[in-house]
Amino acid sequence: MAKPKLLITRKLRPAVEERAARDYDVVTNPDDHVFTEAELIAACRKVDAVLPCHSERFTAGVIAAIGPGLKIIANHSVGVDHVDLAAAREAGVVVTNTPDVLSDATAEIAILCMLGAARRGAEGDAMVRAGKWDFWSPAFMVGRQVTGKRMGILGMGRVGQVTADRARGFGMEIHYHNRRRLPDHLEKGAIFHDTPESLLAVSDVLSLHCPATPENLGIINARTLALLPERAILVNTARGALVDEDALVDALKSGRLFAAGLDVFRTEPGGNPAIAALPNVFLLPHIGSATEETRDAMGFRALDNLDAFFAGRAPGDRVV
Ligand code: DGY
Repeated sequence: MAKPKLLITRKLRPAVEERAARDYDVVTNPDDHVFTEAELIAACRKVDAVLPCHSERFTAGVIAAIGPGLKIIANHSVGVDHVDLAAAREAGVVVTNTPDVLSDATAEIAILCMLGAARRGAEGDAMVRAGKWDFWSPAFMVGRQVTGKRMGILGMGRVGQVTADRARGFGMEIHYHNRRRLPDHLEKGAIFHDTPESLLAVSDVLSLHCPATPENLGIINARTLALLPERAILVNTARGALVDEDALVDALKSGRLFAAGLDVFRTEPGGNPAIAALPNVFLLPHIGSATEETRDAMGFRALDNLDAFFAGRAPGDRVV
């Protein structure tokens, strides 16, 4: 039987590419560029399946233009905000994601962002590299200690739960808001808040772990930032679209927020120059899941979903 035709939109880890090539008739993107919308449509029209990343946007228009040949979008990501799920459902296209396998790696980056922001990691690093470290005193480069502070987790899914576990190691008191309260064995003594507002009011560090669903877009804005305790720290390893970046810049400039640690931005790649110009930010280029182990696991998980689909079984991570 002919192998299913699979488009892999970006460069993946070698072991993942090898396995894909064994089981599928693979079309790749050798120079690893971000497809234009027209390129994405043209490439998807020629295949049965696509294995994309969050860098490819499957809008309703793109899904309609691809037409009936494409059967499954097997994402190499846990987030699926780059796919119009209603349009995929309507078109009968199956959508899968890669949950669980990136929770540890992303929680590590959340903790790095928290510490980098709280302890002025970027400022210190830049000073030493530039040869401008010419002074030391007890009043020099003083940051905020996170040990013993309150950590607010907005979105207590898999990544939020692992981040809470890591923060417990710093003696932080864990508070969270989630659509549903977690059972005791997952809550592990964390304090549930039934509204985001109530959570924000107690969060010395607020870490975002909710998906960028339409109702969450801009959930961190001038109104909600004003609810945080004075000189709180914002951490975002989820999606840039959760944050009104103009309001964030104002809060960081005024000192209302002590600092922010951000791995994600509204505009990616690139980020936000107004944020990058501030001293009190610690910034990373969307590398939450970027470890060898995790990227292997994400690729294999996406292939597991494809294998199940083409074997006539239900893919384990079906979203639509
Ligand atoms: C995810 O899996 O959603 C990460 O942000 C990488 O795309």
